[in-house]
Amino acid sequence: MHKNIDDIRQEFLNFFKKKGHEIVASSTLIPNNDPTLLFTNSGMNQFKNIFLGIDKPLFKRVTTAQRCVRAGGKHNDLDNVGYTERHLTFFEMLGNFSFGDYFKYEAIQFAWELLTDSNWFNLSKNKLWVTVHISDSESYDIWIKQVDIPNEHVVRIGNNTDNFYDSDNFWQMGNIGPCGPCSEIFYDHGDRFQGYPPGSLKEFGERYVEIWNLVFIQFNRQLDSHLLSLPMLSVDTGMGLERIAAILQGVHSSYSVDVFKKLISSISQIIKVSDDNTNRSLYVIADHIRTCSFLIQDGVLPSNEGRGYVLRRIIRRAVLHGKKLGTKNIFFYKLVPPLIKYMQHLSDKLCEKQDFIEKILLSEEKLFEDTLKKGLKLLEKKLSLLRGNILNGEIAFHLHDTYGFPLELTKNICLRHGIHVDQVKFDQSMLIQKKYAKESNKFYITSKNISLCNISNTFVGYRELTCRSQIIALFRVNNPVNKIYAEEEGIVILKNTPFYGESGGQIGDSGQLKTISSLFQVTNTKKYGQTIGHFGTVNSGAISVGEEVIAQVDQYKRKYISFNHSATHLLRAALYQVLGSHIIQKGSLVNDQYLRFDFCHHETMTAEQINTVENLVNKQIWSNFPIAADMIPIEIAKNSGVVMLINKQYEKIVRVIRMGNFSAELCGGTHAKNTGEIGVFVITKESSIASGIRRIEAVTSNTALSVIHQYKKLLQNIFKLTQSDNKNILSKIHEFKSRCQKLEKEIEHLRNKQIMHKSLSFIKEIYYIKDVQILIKQVENMMLKPLTNLIDCLKRQLKSGVIVIINISKNNKINIVIAVTKDLIENNRINALNLVHLIINTLGGKGGGKPHFAQVGINNIINTSKISTKIDFLLHNIL
Ligand code: ALA
Repeated sequence: MHKNIDDIRQEFLNFFKKKGHEIVASSTLIPNNDPTLLFTNSGMNQFKNIFLGIDKPLFKRVTTAQRCVRAGGKHNDLDNVGYTERHLTFFEMLGNFSFGDYFKYEAIQFAWELLTDSNWFNLSKNKLWVTVHISDSESYDIWIKQVDIPNEHVVRIGNNTDNFYDSDNFWQMGNIGPCGPCSEIFYDHGDRFQGYPPGSLKEFGERYVEIWNLVFIQFNRQLDSHLLSLPMLSVDTGMGLERIAAILQGVHSSYSVDVFKKLISSISQIIKVSDDNTNRSLYVIADHIRTCSFLIQDGVLPSNEGRGYVLRRIIRRAVLHGKKLGTKNIFFYKLVPPLIKYMQHLSDKLCEKQDFIEKILLSEEKLFEDTLKKGLKLLEKKLSLLRGNILNGEIAFHLHDTYGFPLELTKNICLRHGIHVDQVKFDQSMLIQKKYAKESNKFYITSKNISLCNISNTFVGYRELTCRSQIIALFRVNNPVNKIYAEEEGIVILKNTPFYGESGGQIGDSGQLKTISSLFQVTNTKKYGQTIGHFGTVNSGAISVGEEVIAQVDQYKRKYISFNHSATHLLRAALYQVLGSHIIQKGSLVNDQYLRFDFCHHETMTAEQINTVENLVNKQIWSNFPIAADMIPIEIAKNSGVVMLINKQYEKIVRVIRMGNFSAELCGGTHAKNTGEIGVFVITKESSIASGIRRIEAVTSNTALSVIHQYKKLLQNIFKLTQSDNKNILSKIHEFKSRCQKLEKEIEHLRNKQIMHKSLSFIKEIYYIKDVQILIKQVENMMLKPLTNLIDCLKRQLKSGVIVIINISKNNKINIVIAVTKDLIENNRINALNLVHLIINTLGGKGGGKPHFAQVGINNIINTSKISTKIDFLLHNIL
């Protein structure tokens, strides 16, 4: 029976459901709050904190079909796509997970049963091979003794270097984080394909394809590479859906599974190339449209850094492959409809966001076209100035890095001019850039000791701002201590606390912890895993673990933080209404002074939109809705359209903040009692913080009032300066502007007159070389515009001749401008570029231009008096 890809996914999930696993939805491609990761690259990402023991699992056994992107960071397959039959940048990973529940034995038994049992995938046992880490005798014995796999198909794999666990059979999420030895399962596609069994050669070709990785998570890799043992042993597995589908559908390539076949066929029709299903450029385009559409769906937008930069690179790679196939027109965005047709089962949102995704892809491809044109112009300019026949590799790298020119393209263009590219320099520049990227990718953990201490305390500060409590732990420089003394800084952990730990964009509280004999001034409160830590200084005496305290939050500060937090919810809901449903929160900051909200949106908001949002928020404030906080089951929240962060793992019961019918959001923050308390809401700034991400800054309550006062004061000053009032201020400013323009024109007129005058005096110094009129003149500190005007003026008077103006600026920078009249160029007597080349050869500097007008710039010439004589000499040589 033919199984389509949906059947296969469902069968996997059903199998594990039968084995007591909870089916959990895929998280998005943007890892939530995890700066160590560029994209979700594996099924286990969303459970990272559970593996680390920071979060408690809701279920001990879980199964997922997780969408993943491997196009950056530790797991990066971008450069393999188009070269192998099995690599994809976007794929679905089927996985089963045990959090401190079963370990190696069950993980292996489950995998074997699903793959080989006739009720499930029913694969031939002789076709399967497995690898285990050389040190993992436990797994080896399970495979050999407890599973009926041919013994010679179980291979022990060693380390790649002298470093223990630097091995293909040791899996880690990134440079730091959960990791452990693994056992990989391979499928033998048969001797029609080239390749050797796993373990025999480093590259084993296309015959044996890895399909499933069973990872036995035992460690937390530290920044210094050290492996910290985790308190519980867990299992994380991952099987590539497209790879298993290829096997079950009797094909070899991931690109030949049902959905890809259909997609590739549609793409070939759209870009009008024949679809023989082996065209590697079609593979690349099919893979990339999937990756790009899902990345945009999940909130990534093309930009010059981080995730956005990777997305931009993938789009450009696809477009270049389109060009390779001969496409002349913009095409990439046109592939979204077939993608949705065949793959929308992966996510409902794809369909909802179709217009948006198409719009982003279209504008990015247009931008790339422009960039390519600019790059081409730059390359042509560099080639026209080139002496010799080697193009500096740094230029090729610049074209690659800034203009997206693949090296091959630069090489091909150069070859047409008989020029080669210095590849060594190119490679060096690439290496330097990679090293830099790696450095900046490092992730620094602070206070890991605190989060790993696994202390949890209770937050009581929604209702009370003062409470009695007890010190249960103290940290100084992130190390646990028993006592902190006067004037020392430290972190206090209380049994229960009214202090809100900085999270969800809301800053921490400040206030005081009083013991019988001492006072700890809290300047900030942060969350370390589940633990709220009070950061501050002991004012006098000392505080010790076990002591009783009275914890008191600064009420005034908290009040304004709460107003701003509630206003942020109103703002988000208003933006959604005014700008559309693509608004996804990208970050926020709420403190007692103002609020900041970052969100996905592709263009600047108009003044009208800003006003509408402001009015809408104020309308809700003046409606004075009660602000209710309810604890409800997550499923109910999901079904009733409550706003939540897309990628977060929520508890079963969640806190919902509701403001009338206008806003309902999952939130752990503190809020006003009713919207009326916020008083008034004023947007102070709307700006871009990255490509496709806007930021709104706003103020509320008394800060809003003082901002209005400031504006008023500013306006008063302007009235005074311009001697106007609010009725005629605009016409006054228009009047000033047009007066300025008039004056500028007059100045221009006078300058031109002056230039005319100057040129008349210059004309007297014309001399001849043979029959050609020559004028060489030295001037000082002339701006470019008057200089070109002067040259035009001279050319008109001269009718035929060569004009050379040597412009010396204050810092001895020299700009030599050369103009040649048309007749001399047409008769092949001289052209400005010949002279430029000779000047550069004699005096140095850089330059270029056209036959009738060219320039040379020279830095730091000490003796300027000889330049005219030298140029005269060169002219004699040419003419
Ligand atoms: N996390 C493991 C992998 O991605 C299963 O290979």
